[in-house]
Amino acid sequence: MREVRMAGEELTAESSRLRAAWMRYDSRLLDGYLVRDVEDPRINLQSILSRSFLIDAIWPDEFTALIREEFRFSICLNFILKALKTRCPQVNRQSILNALADGRQTCGDVRIPSYLRHAFELTSRDSQGLPDYISQALVGPVSDENVWLPDCALSAFEQIWHSVLRHREASRISVLEPGCGSANDYRCLYSFGVARFLEYTGLDICDKNIANARRRFGSVDFRIEDFLATGAENKSYDFLFVHDLFEHLSGAAIELALSHIARVTRKQACLSFFNMADIPEHVIRREGLYHWNRVSMQRIRESLLASARSIDVVHIGAFLRDNYGCTDYHNNGAYTLIVSFDTD
Ligand SMILES: C[S@@+](CC[C@H](N)C(=O)[O-])C[C@H]1O[C@@H](n2cnc3c(N)ncnc32)[C@H](O)[C@@H]1O
Repeated sequence: MREVRMAGEELTAESSRLRAAWMRYDSRLLDGYLVRDVEDPRINLQSILSRSFLIDAIWPDEFTALIREEFRFSICLNFILKALKTRCPQVNRQSILNALADGRQTCGDVRIPSYLRHAFELTSRDSQGLPDYISQALVGPVSDENVWLPDCALSAFEQIWHSVLRHREASRISVLEPGCGSANDYRCLYSFGVARFLEYTGLDICDKNIANARRRFGSVDFRIEDFLATGAENKSYDFLFVHDLFEHLSGAAIELALSHIARVTRKQACLSFFNMADIPEHVIRREGLYHWNRVSMQRIRESLLASARSIDVVHIGAFLRDNYGCTDYHNNGAYTLIVSFDTD
């Protein structure tokens, strides 16, 4: 990768704005706001992709079938979540369950997608040894009316992975996560039983996030660090994953962050974006202390290709449409890029 630099003053100014942008929030809010609803890492497709990226790195190709089922689980629970949140009187837990049990294609005015009907068939017959997570989502207890999905359904794959990995042995892989928030994704790496196979380091520029992360996981390497100024050695991590960082950086900082990723990662990086598009240039939008960009997939790809061996671009909506017939994914700007580097 070509060397990328930002002028010292420009970098210092951007870093202090970024720090202030995240530090203005209350610690409790930071601890919870990115791990609920569609962001809940148990059902968020991109969080599942990051976990499966690591699982596949540890046990190549061994869990492909289970990972595919977890993607299906994600779209089904996201559909139910969205349907319930409409608060439409004709669409409630019981009416969705009845429609599925009757094999109907609609529930009130809502179309029941074929992937949900298919998953209901699969799980309610127990033909694949999968838990009946759709019925659980529709009949399980919820603590109050603003909690849309019961924990027993949300945790269905957490329990599966935990029991599948419980007796496994494997060499640990080193992993860096810049912008780790309050251990938002690490929580599930831990509860799913993946964390013990990782030598994990999480970085965040915001002290409050790192305090939250350390409170949960006192012995894990969580550091207050600006990734734009990271002093990590070249190729010091086998794997890296990151969620939702680039949208908040200036154009120069995007390039700098990409150059650090290429420099510090030895094997593969899994980069997730929530606002990306297949356009030639970034749309850089400054909003107060930070940015709220539409990131160009083409530009990111081009920058990384200077040092990467290959890049798989996954447009989440297209991936779900092509593999599961799911055409209602909530975010058309969601992309995950799997970047492979030459290891020698
Ligand atoms: C949108 S949040 C995403 C948090 C988490 N990755 C997730 O997806 O739930 C962006 C995170 O990146 C952190 N961040 C922003 N700029 C950073 C930088 N230069 N170095 C390290 N962390 C940074 C913020 O403090 C915040 O926790």
